[in-house]
Amino acid sequence: MTAILSLSNVGKSYGNVHALRDVSLSVRQGEVTCVLGDNGAGKSTLIKIVSGLHPHSAGEVSLDGSPVSFGSPRDAQAAGIATVYQDLALAPLMSVWRNFFLGNELRSGLLRMLDIASMKRICAAELSKMGIVIPDLERPVASLSGGQRQCVAIARAIYFGARVIILDEPTAALGVKQSGLVLRYVVKARDAGLGVIFITHNPHHAYLVGNHFVILKLGRVVLDAHRDSLTLDRLAAEMAGGEELAELSHELRGVDAGKVVPPASPS
Ligand SMILES: Nc1ncnc2c1ncn2[C@@H]1O[C@H](COP(=O)(O)OP(=O)(O)OP(=O)(O)O)[C@@H](O)[C@H]1O
Ligand SMILES: [Mg+2]
Repeated sequence: MTAILSLSNVGKSYGNVHALRDVSLSVRQGEVTCVLGDNGAGKSTLIKIVSGLHPHSAGEVSLDGSPVSFGSPRDAQAAGIATVYQDLALAPLMSVWRNFFLGNELRSGLLRMLDIASMKRICAAELSKMGIVIPDLERPVASLSGGQRQCVAIARAIYFGARVIILDEPTAALGVKQSGLVLRYVVKARDAGLGVIFITHNPHHAYLVGNHFVILKLGRVVLDAHRDSLTLDRLAAEMAGGEELAELSHELRGVDAGKVVPPASPS
């Protein structure tokens, strides 16, 4: 199957800092592509290029096989690329339905008044289609849980015709139950035929939903593997950085990890 979105030898420098070097990867329709990497690996830089925030300095980004260069996030959105940022996904003080239609409000009549009734009806229908239960759509988004917020943002991207959805560490700040909720919607986005880019530090979350795994390290791709050729153990080991862990264990040898330090006696 041809890729919806592909990067070929993409590089990005910020002055002397090479945030990305020679990065190639493909995002296919109906698949979850997980991008993993430690702090500073280049994950956010990759998202910024694909979502039109920053231009790349080298290589090529292609959409449906044709090279593209997005001048702004609006360009990327118009091409069907939706980005769900961890904190900026939604406007916290606005209601759920307002957020759902933010920037795409429905208007009707000669005066082009907001068509509130239709927006509420569609928002309710779309959320329930995805199995998202939010009893009161007038509630401000700030009162939803982090997981629910991510799910509303995913449902919105699907409704407005995204073909590729990028989720930037959607489970990073969430507990086990909430993460499960978000991972379920990652799968729903995949099943709706989108190409999903799932950015995470967590190999366990990635392996639960991923078809394809890319690990970045210091701006380079160090692993690019399909699920068939990768076990969770190997993915976790690659992420843990086997050598670095061995070095750390060497350094910490003799610290007596089980030691309990008694409180200092008053003098
Ligand atoms: N605007 C910028 N100017 C200069 N250097 C930058 C800029 N943005 C990122 N970098 C550098 O590029 C490298 C990759 O950063 P990036 O934020 O993409 O990493 P990341 O994988 O998202 O890390 P994290 O897990 O901490 O979010 C880092 O060395 C970072 O310091
Ligand atoms: Mg980042």
